[in-house]
Amino acid sequence: MTDSHDDLAATPPLGWNSWNAFSCEVTEADIHAAADALVDTGLREAGYEYVVVDDCWMAGETDSEGRLLPSADFPNGMAALADYVHERGLKFGLYTSAGSHTCQGYPASLGREELHAKQFADWGVDYLKYDNCGDHRGRDAIDRYAAMGDALAAVNRDIVYSICEWGEHEPWRWGRNVGGHLWRATDDLVAKWRADRDEFGLGIADVLDRMAAIDAAAHGPGGWNDPDMLQIGTGPESGQSQHEPVDVQRPLTEAERRSHFAFWCLLAAPLMIGADLTSLSDFDRELLTNERLLAIDQDPLGVQGTPDRCDGDAEVWSKRLADGGAVAFHNLGDAKREISTHVSAVDVPGGADHYRVCDCWTSNEWETGGSLAMTVEPRDTAIVRVTPG
Ligand code: GLA
Repeated sequence: MTDSHDDLAATPPLGWNSWNAFSCEVTEADIHAAADALVDTGLREAGYEYVVVDDCWMAGETDSEGRLLPSADFPNGMAALADYVHERGLKFGLYTSAGSHTCQGYPASLGREELHAKQFADWGVDYLKYDNCGDHRGRDAIDRYAAMGDALAAVNRDIVYSICEWGEHEPWRWGRNVGGHLWRATDDLVAKWRADRDEFGLGIADVLDRMAAIDAAAHGPGGWNDPDMLQIGTGPESGQSQHEPVDVQRPLTEAERRSHFAFWCLLAAPLMIGADLTSLSDFDRELLTNERLLAIDQDPLGVQGTPDRCDGDAEVWSKRLADGGAVAFHNLGDAKREISTHVSAVDVPGGADHYRVCDCWTSNEWETGGSLAMTVEPRDTAIVRVTPG
């Protein structure tokens, strides 16, 4: 057991979740393959450690005491699956909901928190994603999420508590107090740059607009605002959306995927990969294992990056780091352009004569007295690490 709640998620959790690639069709074999692939692709080595089974792992009925039972698609049960994941040096996560049912209509955990938390601990669960679907039986969100937080705190096992309340009741104000280590701040992210208003989910840019507006005071070591799982390597072109109607998702371009990953790292977001890892492209694998970006995400200060300038098609965002800052230059337009700023206008410690600058995509390095300018392709994001002296 860790010494304190915060130690369990001192930096944003990194891992993989079954939902974006497998939806409700997930099987034990898919989880085995994902755990193996995390090792084989080098993603585990890069820091991705949680393997989380999302909705639909449970049978349609509980046992007579109300315990959750695995579905026939998990024939060896959840303790054996946890062992499989642990044997590969990874950690195991499961999903349930703070209501009568999960979002896909399976039995869930409201009113049975202690029973289910004990089951999870006995099975060897290290991470719980707790969704917001089903009948709430008149109980408010804080009460429902505190009940599971208390139940997890009472078991003799470290379990990261991932609150999935979609930001409806501002969980950044209470997520930490109910034992949460991360809390979804927004609706579901789909593999689109922007979603149409009348369709399900949000696009990357929609989520960024919301993240720029929410309170980041509680975000930091031990508790993180969560802008949802990554849509890198998902979408129809990758063959990974066979369970979603095609009009809900389209693949992101390489520039959009770079922007997606750069901004999630700048936000110090939990990074839960959503792709089928058995068919991950070289581009996506290199993106997800970019050590300069991961270092920005995992910086020990745990600061959430914020926008400094939104000026037509050019946006500049920055994030304070333990030894300086990260600055992102995002081109929202349709033409390549230069975007510039100065260290005095972003969240980088001032007062130095010189700064070292490192381009996180190319690893090119140079020095500046303070001016920063990057040429950026349409929809793309340049991101640099700036260190005084
Ligand atoms: C909700 C959550 C998603 C996913 C699905 C599963 O929509 O926000 O992340 O867990 O439920 O049904």
